[in-house]
Amino acid sequence: MKDLEWAKLSFGYRKTDYNVRCYYRDGKWGEIEVSSEETINLHMAATCLHYGQEAFEGLKAYRCPDGKVRVFRVDENAARLQSTCRGILMPELPTEMFCEMVKKVVRLNQEWIPTYESGATLYIRPLLIGTSAQVGVHPASEYCFLIFVTPVGPYFKGGFATNPYVIIRDHDRSAPLGTGIYKVGGNYAASLLANKKAHDLGYACEFYLDAKEKKYIDECGAANFFGIKDNTYVTPKSTSILPSITNKSLMQVAEDLGMKVERRPIPEEELATFEEAGACGTAAVISPISKIDDLETGKSYVFSEDGKPGEMSKKLYDTLRGIQYGTIEDKHGWTTVVID
Ligand SMILES: Cc1ncc(COP(=O)(O)O)c(C=O)c1O
Repeated sequence: MKDLEWAKLSFGYRKTDYNVRCYYRDGKWGEIEVSSEETINLHMAATCLHYGQEAFEGLKAYRCPDGKVRVFRVDENAARLQSTCRGILMPELPTEMFCEMVKKVVRLNQEWIPTYESGATLYIRPLLIGTSAQVGVHPASEYCFLIFVTPVGPYFKGGFATNPYVIIRDHDRSAPLGTGIYKVGGNYAASLLANKKAHDLGYACEFYLDAKEKKYIDECGAANFFGIKDNTYVTPKSTSILPSITNKSLMQVAEDLGMKVERRPIPEEELATFEEAGACGTAAVISPISKIDDLETGKSYVFSEDGKPGEMSKKLYDTLRGIQYGTIEDKHGWTTVVID
């Protein structure tokens, strides 16, 4: 294993040894290739550069206390990428191939998988781009799919803690019938300015309302939202948010823990009724929310006065993390052992 101060790593790019690649040409996917190059040789008229034919995914490999390395719901990432492909006319990568490439790239870079004790993980970034030249707005005929990995530090350096969020009303990240449900780079370009505004104002992240009516909660930055009240886990149903795999899992875990689960539109005013709230995604599992401010209306929805996360959020967090790290029974078969 590499001799790094794993616990001090941030969420950033660090070179590892290998990436895996596969090319789509003449209507079919080729052989899986291993590369130690960090760069790609790209045609200047490639559709990914001009027309945003670009999709990515994000998941993690966990070095577990039993010495094994596991990945979490990798088939769900494969399925979401396929959905994105259908959304922006790219060829779908078969689930089997996606999973094989994830396993291969993790095994090839096993020296870069952080220790369990550090709380750090190996972040896995699959990327699919249209590579053939095109000057009219059309899909490419050739594509490159690659996966690289990079070690990332623990999300909660000072322990599981809450953060303040802010509703940004003067930007939308996606439209109701747009690409918000797909993981395409354009959505993230659309979020950069709102995210900067939130950070400049001292908030952890920006919150979006639905773009059409500005009435319902959509999602926050790169995470889904959930609120908890009366032993019920409530999360938005919206056509402009990314279907989070963490959220999908938390809904099941909540049910397993005896909670009710509701997936439905959440009007902003309902925020005032939640006992706990959180942002969920691969990065943090759950990032508990201390408050959400709406600067335009002057309203502030407070979920934690003392900065401490709520009891149910902690329980959901501990359970899902336990499953990911192999310390809690994986009764839904969500994890895959990549290194035994
Ligand atoms: C916009 C957005 N929403 C939600 C999520 C959380 O999704 P997941 O739980 O699959 O990481 C992400 C991260 O991938 C995201 O980028």
